[in-house]
Amino acid sequence: MVHFQESLLSWYAKNKRDLPWRHTKDPYRIWLSEVILQQTRVNQGMEYYLKFIETFPTVFDLSKAAEKQVLALWQGLGYYSRARNLHQAAKEVVNEYNGVFPSDYKTLLKLKGVGPYTAAAISSFSFNEAKAVLDGNVFRVLSRLYDINKPINSTNGQREFQEISTNLLNELDSATHNQAMMEFGALVCTPKRPKCDKCPFILECNSYKNNTVLLRPVKLKKTKVRSRYFIYTVFYNELKKLVYLKKRESKDIWQNLYDFHLEEIHEETLFLDRVDGLEKDKHIIKLQHKLTHQIINAVFFIEHTKENSNFKKLEPVHIDEINTYPIPTLIKNYLEKQMDISYSV
Ligand code: ADE
Repeated sequence: MVHFQESLLSWYAKNKRDLPWRHTKDPYRIWLSEVILQQTRVNQGMEYYLKFIETFPTVFDLSKAAEKQVLALWQGLGYYSRARNLHQAAKEVVNEYNGVFPSDYKTLLKLKGVGPYTAAAISSFSFNEAKAVLDGNVFRVLSRLYDINKPINSTNGQREFQEISTNLLNELDSATHNQAMMEFGALVCTPKRPKCDKCPFILECNSYKNNTVLLRPVKLKKTKVRSRYFIYTVFYNELKKLVYLKKRESKDIWQNLYDFHLEEIHEETLFLDRVDGLEKDKHIIKLQHKLTHQIINAVFFIEHTKENSNFKKLEPVHIDEINTYPIPTLIKNYLEKQMDISYSV
């Protein structure tokens, strides 16, 4: 163990990359870098990190920013809830901790969007707390070193990896140890074409011995889930109690079922901007609906219509008749919420 720790630190001292977040102990900067690096690789992440630091040099600056600006800076990284959480957590640090970042793993975990990985990274890098980080790089290194075939994304596997990484941790310098583990995974023990000939642990690597290097780590396959963004305009004739339904004819989800006039937005930031705009002068209802491979983020708002309105491709239906039309559960949920119409499928 001590041998492993020493070899790792000496490998790191010789081979580490010069990265901006390695020149600081400022938990704000460490946190920003780690959240960004969960989304992207070091090269691209650097650009985003520098942009964020320049625009928001302190947690106070980020907390005071408009969400729109935060999302705009995040644009291109995807998974925009991470950007919103970032913004939210900055507000928490300012409002609940007087702008001073919590310094221990447990308290860090309470911040919005901060999970075990980020909390371990901040507490060890900034405060040298003896917490082992487990990211994709570390999982790969450990799964090969010990030739572990338990899936890294199973509960059982996670427990085992946590235990091993904690045992291996150099408690005297957890900050450098953790950085070194990740760097070793990123530069030597790479996913494809690992550089085993340059590995200081080749003699003790069980996967190398068993010829299973490329089979590690094992991961349970999870189907990819796609997010979609729907804006529904519900045309409604209040006098006659008519709702305008639309038959879904395209080869998409819900083929031949009925919904409303729909505009699909293909980018989350654009969707959020539109929702912001709509919210200013309309009552909107937001619903999220999970399908096996898709998450539908939908907003609905009512557009009142005059008598005898005639919309191409829209069908006026009396609200008491809606239950005779096939409608997706999302639409059913909306109707129940908005109009108190109970509809059983
Ligand atoms: N990936 C995740 N965190 C990292 C860090 N601090 N340095 C390099 N790569 C990383």
